[in-house]
Amino acid sequence: MSKNILITGASSGFGKMITETLLNKGHTVIASMRGVESKNKTSAESLDNAGAHIVEIDVTSSESVDTGVRSAIDKTGSIDVVVNNAGVGVLGLQEAFTPEDWQGLFDINVFGVQRVNRAVLPSMRERNSGLLISISSLLGRMTIPFYGPYNASKWALEALAENYRTELSGFGIDSCIVEPGGYPTEFMDNLVKPGDKDRLTEYGEFADAPMGFFAGFEQALASNKEQDPQNVADVVAELIDTPAGQRPFRTVVDKMGMGDHIKGYNEQLEQITSGIYNAFGIGDMLKLKAQ
Ligand SMILES: NC(=O)c1ccc[n+]([C@@H]2O[C@H](COP(=O)([O-])OP(=O)(O)OC[C@H]3O[C@@H](n4cnc5c(N)ncnc54)[C@H](OP(=O)(O)O)[C@@H]3O)[C@@H](O)[C@H]2O)c1
Repeated sequence: MSKNILITGASSGFGKMITETLLNKGHTVIASMRGVESKNKTSAESLDNAGAHIVEIDVTSSESVDTGVRSAIDKTGSIDVVVNNAGVGVLGLQEAFTPEDWQGLFDINVFGVQRVNRAVLPSMRERNSGLLISISSLLGRMTIPFYGPYNASKWALEALAENYRTELSGFGIDSCIVEPGGYPTEFMDNLVKPGDKDRLTEYGEFADAPMGFFAGFEQALASNKEQDPQNVADVVAELIDTPAGQRPFRTVVDKMGMGDHIKGYNEQLEQITSGIYNAFGIGDMLKLKAQ
């Protein structure tokens, strides 16, 4: 069945692919992005030609989010699904990221998601149905050095999505997390570097370790052709097509090995969570109320 789907950060990478994939499946897609008339004009025009509704949303501005969501609902009548995809990565030694660097990152990767969810949820609760998809990361489950603030932001996003899962289940609204491994998108060119260069010099030669590690990772990525960003778009499309109440809470998307370990971890956590919730007498909150 065709759904109305709002995607954030649709100008490039996964967001653009998810938009194209969902349009091909016959869904109505609102492709939101910042800079519709400026930096992302070409992407906006191409997705508009492909049949998407284009809406300006900068997830760091509540005003932009509220206006964009209102305009999306005006265009389509309702929003059935939100794909919180907009996000930025980092590369560098954690100590050298200033509090302002951290705030800027959380403003996109965490607070941006809360802004968008708060804008769409009143209409979803009213209709007792909806789906929130959060594009997290394997780095939202474990940490790898040199991605410090990014790890923390995706861990925070996981907690946000997990709480929505339980607090919205009674309204028939699903919250699902997609956890990609590393994929060759524009993400790798946009990694934010530490703002405090002086602090970096105090680390001596070790200050070069992040770049060395990243170069090795890029090599591994280039030699693994199965790690195709389209895999992420396909998983999102499948989640949307899965009937409410049957969707997995977390879905790992990775063909480079690390994902298999995280899958096992997720399965164990699901069992532990269920045991603790049952002990608290709130096990029902993990199950979506029938729509
Ligand atoms: N690629 C990976 O290895 C990987 C792995 C795991 C998870 N992820 C996650 O996947 C998501 C998409 O990343 P990607 O790989 O597709 O990278 P990407 O091509 O760089 O896409 C990121 C998107 O987020 C948008 N964005 C950034 N700040 C924004 C803001 N303030 N308001 C609205 N949009 C904003 C960007 O828009 P602009 O063009 O305007 O900057 C861009 O469209 C992110 O959440 C990322 O953390 C990526």
